[in-house]
Amino acid sequence: MAVRCSKFKRQFMLLIGIFLVLTVILQIVPSFYEAQNNIVTAMKFPQFESRLLSNKSFTVVKRLKDPVSLWKVHPSDDRILLQAKFNPKIDLSLSPKRILLEQGLAGWNVKGGKQTFNDHDCPVQHCELHGHPNGEVFDARIFKEIELYSRLLQGAQAEVPRHSDQVWIMFALESPEASPSYEGLNDVINWTATYRYDSTMVTPYDKFQVYDNFTQISNYKSDKNYAQGKTKLAAIFVSNCYASNARLEYVKELQQYMDLDFYGSCGNLRCDKGFGNNCFENLQKEYKFYLSFENANCRDYITEKFFLNALRHDVVPVVMGAHPDDYRRVAPPGSFIHVEEYPNAEALAGHLKRLNELDDEYNDYFRWKSTGQFVDTKLWCRICSLLWDTDLPHQLIHDLEQWWRGDNICIGKGRWDEISNSSKLHVRK
Ligand SMILES: *[C@@H]1O[C@H](CO)[C@@H](O)[C@H](O)[C@H]1NC(C)=O
Ligand SMILES: *[C@@H]1O[C@H](CO)[C@@H](O)[C@H](O)[C@H]1NC(C)=O
Ligand SMILES: *[C@@H]1O[C@H](CO)[C@@H](O)[C@H](O)[C@H]1NC(C)=O
Ligand SMILES: *[C@@H]1O[C@H](CO)[C@@H](O)[C@H](O)[C@H]1NC(C)=O
Repeated sequence: MAVRCSKFKRQFMLLIGIFLVLTVILQIVPSFYEAQNNIVTAMKFPQFESRLLSNKSFTVVKRLKDPVSLWKVHPSDDRILLQAKFNPKIDLSLSPKRILLEQGLAGWNVKGGKQTFNDHDCPVQHCELHGHPNGEVFDARIFKEIELYSRLLQGAQAEVPRHSDQVWIMFALESPEASPSYEGLNDVINWTATYRYDSTMVTPYDKFQVYDNFTQISNYKSDKNYAQGKTKLAAIFVSNCYASNARLEYVKELQQYMDLDFYGSCGNLRCDKGFGNNCFENLQKEYKFYLSFENANCRDYITEKFFLNALRHDVVPVVMGAHPDDYRRVAPPGSFIHVEEYPNAEALAGHLKRLNELDDEYNDYFRWKSTGQFVDTKLWCRICSLLWDTDLPHQLIHDLEQWWRGDNICIGKGRWDEISNSSKLHVRK
């Protein structure tokens, strides 16, 4: 009896042992794999792993598991909400952080003093906005892109003395194609606030936040038929005929294969004539597709043409501009068609004409509508909170021109998939 019992006990212990070893292996292997992965992605331009996103109708939004820090660029988190909610302990007996806006308050359409921080309900409101240098010591200065170069040349440094702990912030909305040269602006800018994903504070034109309970896009189906009542296929509005990409040529080519109404000063139709006062309100009632073609093909450069004109209206955006990965990272899942999903204009036109016949498939592009919401990116709150960070890291952009306009940031008339195998792409200095 004793022998049988101890044999049983041995077997039992063996089983426990195997169980423990398996548990440990299952824990270690994935995190090892992840760590390997992170080393790789950290060296690249931050982006989702495309295998997670390549399937456009079944996009799964998944975050890599490495911790998100306020300051470090993360491959799949723009840190916007983290920064906006950041609430460091502050000593209210200290004077507020003073922020000088180089373009004056009107240039930013904000109120001076603490008002803006109160209005935005910021977690930290102990900051002040100033429109003029008035003999005060400033903790931060914000330069808009256009004035950056000229202001610094004019001696912005001399006008308001720069203290060693004064943070200089570059803000930009335009593409590098439309920005002045930053040649020579080395080691002067501490933080960047631009739509670029590798900015200190990412400031996209808009932000769609998927709800936490989001599972996958195929689970969502709207009862609404977004095709109903729409009698026209596609429209584009272009007021600036200049574009460094092949936008106009592509539009002309598309017009050979499909109905495409061309509004604006470069087209033959006008928005105000016979189209009501609000182009975009009417647009969504009549058209199925809106061509959100940017005027430059540059990384992350995705403007209100995409977010406001199309997504915030019930029309499907067909996009040209940033890299497809950049769109996938900021767009609601399954919400758009990138021109590079098709080898040429004829193939794209074929797809749009097919969707014109198939309401179910057209409606798939609207499944995202109940999966999340557009959120305020709270730039002012983020600046205030970050200035109060007790662990404020020392940061400096060594070569601003190289960062802003480096290799393969903009690709002119090229296609991203033609250069995407180039070893230079995404590698940051
Ligand atoms: C996309 O996902 C669907 C459903 O999971 C699958 O049937 C299809 O093969 C996938 N397509 C690609 C290109 O992976
Ligand atoms: C997910 O969350 C949002 C917002 O909290 C809510 O409106 C929605 O009904 C939820 N969806 C599901 C499937 O629980
Ligand atoms: C900002 O840049 C200056 C260099 O001009 C540097 O001395 C300072 O330490 C930087 N501050 C922060 C907070 O990074
Ligand atoms: C880039 O690489 C992919 C797969 O690695 C290949 O299918 C594609 O043809 C390549 N593109 C070019 C332009 O070389």
